[in-house]
Order: sequence, then structure tokens, then C-alpha cells
Amino acid sequence: MEWKREELRVEKEIGEPILVVENAMKAFGGLQALNNISFEVRRGEILSIIGPNGAGKSVMLNCINGLPGYRLDSGRIVFDGQDITNWPPHKRAHIGISRTFQKIELFGGMTVLDNVKLGRHMKMNTGWWDGGIYWGKAVKEEAKHRKWIEEKVFETCEIEIYRNRITGMLPYGVQKRIELARALAMGPRLLLLDEPMAGLNLEEVEDMTRFILDANEEKEWNCTIILVEHDMGVVMDISDRVIVFDWGAKIADGPPEEVQNKPEVIRAYLGEVEETYITRR
Ligand SMILES: Nc1ncnc2c1ncn2[C@@H]1O[C@H](COP(=O)(O)OP(=O)(O)O)[C@@H](O)[C@H]1O
Ligand SMILES: [Mg+2]
Repeated sequence: MEWKREELRVEKEIGEPILVVENAMKAFGGLQALNNISFEVRRGEILSIIGPNGAGKSVMLNCINGLPGYRLDSGRIVFDGQDITNWPPHKRAHIGISRTFQKIELFGGMTVLDNVKLGRHMKMNTGWWDGGIYWGKAVKEEAKHRKWIEEKVFETCEIEIYRNRITGMLPYGVQKRIELARALAMGPRLLLLDEPMAGLNLEEVEDMTRFILDANEEKEWNCTIILVEHDMGVVMDISDRVIVFDWGAKIADGPPEEVQNKPEVIRAYLGEVEETYITRR
């Protein structure tokens, strides 16, 4: 495994913590999926969470975004100074936490535009998206938001040409971009990405890397990002900091070049190589 960090990034300001996770515990039956996890993410950062399959990475993202069934047993999650540990997901979305899923969660029968608009609806005051009949203010709002989606979101993820296509009929790589587009459509401050590179070919990985850097770029989307990713090339290239999970525990936290050489990290990954992505339970 060769990990080489290339400088893909411009210098940027890393601010104060925007998200703080304190002593997070989450068990499923006898399985301790999160075992006393603490870390923070600073404004402007790309923080990657890596670790073998089954380590608790997706569970961590689910707890941060408040997915039903993923409330912490104990510990705290603080976003922008507010304790959001027990908030419902829509309220977290409203204050700017948005995500993509490891397994694509799009409405296959809907057009690309409609899928991305669904991401946007959190920010809207009128219920244009489910009525089908638009009046007055709602017509104007719909038009304004559609224009913004087409100009800004579609442009970032390079999916303009698929605008009216049925999502489920599009290639997997395009659907991964639509997932990112839907997450960006919310105008998030914190973006949680769960294996955005999984299943992509080399060229698609390069494109997706560029979109993620745009999402992070202060003058573009200015999102703080938590990236869960198995592609170590990408992780080493674009992360400001990396934390490593193994069996629900955090075993390392630091700059990419430092973390990759830690013996406990190498040990966790050697196990992974032998099991080649078979989930450990
Ligand atoms: N809803 C759930 N019910 C029971 N077990 C779960 C649930 N979600 C996750 N797990 C278990 O928690 C562990 C960590 O899972 P996960 O966070 O998905 O791993 P990964 O690091 O690969 O993303 C796994 O053993 C998984 O089976
Ligand atoms: Mg996962």
C-alpha cells in the first residue's frame, strides 16, 4: 500500500471547532459500535475518518446527522455551540448538517432535478415540492430555487446534462454525483460524506475529488467536511486531518502523514487486507 500525499490544496484558514463529539457511546445489542469516541472538527477542515469495515464510521455519521435509530446511548454532539445530541434529523439539516450515504439513497423513479430539489426543500418556506399546483409566492420561490440549483449545484457536480433524466436509469458514477448534489442543495455548513469514491473508476474518482474540494473551498461552498473513505490516495491527498476507528474506538488522530505511519493503524489495516473488505462482526 503506497500512501503519498500530494499538495492538491491551497492554503486555507482553519477556524475554531464547529463540531465536537464527546465520549460518544452507541451499542447494538452486545456490539459496542462506538466506544467512547471523542474528536472535534474545525471550521474549514476536511477531516477524514478511516478504519476497517465494521469499525463504526457510518454509525458515527448516522449519529451526527440524527438518522432514526442512531441516538447516542451516552456522550454529546455539539454543533456550533449547540448540543444537538437528541435533535431530530430535520432540525439538524436546518442548522446546516447535510450528508451522502454509503449506499445510494436517491428516488430512482424521479428526475435528477426533482431529487436535488428535495435536498433544497429544507430551506424553503412554501410547500411547492409536493403540491403540483403553484401559486404566487410559491411560484417565484420555486423558480428562484430551481435557477440556483441549475446554476450552482449542477455546475459544481457537472450534472446539468442529466437534469431531466430518470435517476435510476443513470450510471452508478453519475448517481454518486447526484447524491453529492442533493447534499449541497441544502446549502450545508457541515457536509458528511460516506464513501463517496466507492465503486468509482479512476477518472470518476478524480472528478469526485475535485467536487469535494470545491465543496470545501471557502470562495465556493465553504463547507466543513467529514469524509469517510477507503481510497487512501484520496484521503492522504485532501485531508487536513485523519482519525482512525477500529472496533468502535478511536486509535489515532492527526495529520495524514503522521497517522499513516502509526503502528496501530498499520496493524488495523493489515487485518483489513487479509479480510479484503469482509465486514468484521
Ligand atoms: N442499525 C444497526 N443495528 C445493528 N447493528 C448495526 C446497526 N448499524 C450498524 N451496526 C453495526 O455496527 C458496526 C459498525 O458499523 P458501521 O459503522 O456501518 O461500520 P463502517 O465502519 O464499515 O462504516 C457493524 O458491526 C454493524 O453491523
Ligand atoms: Mg460504512
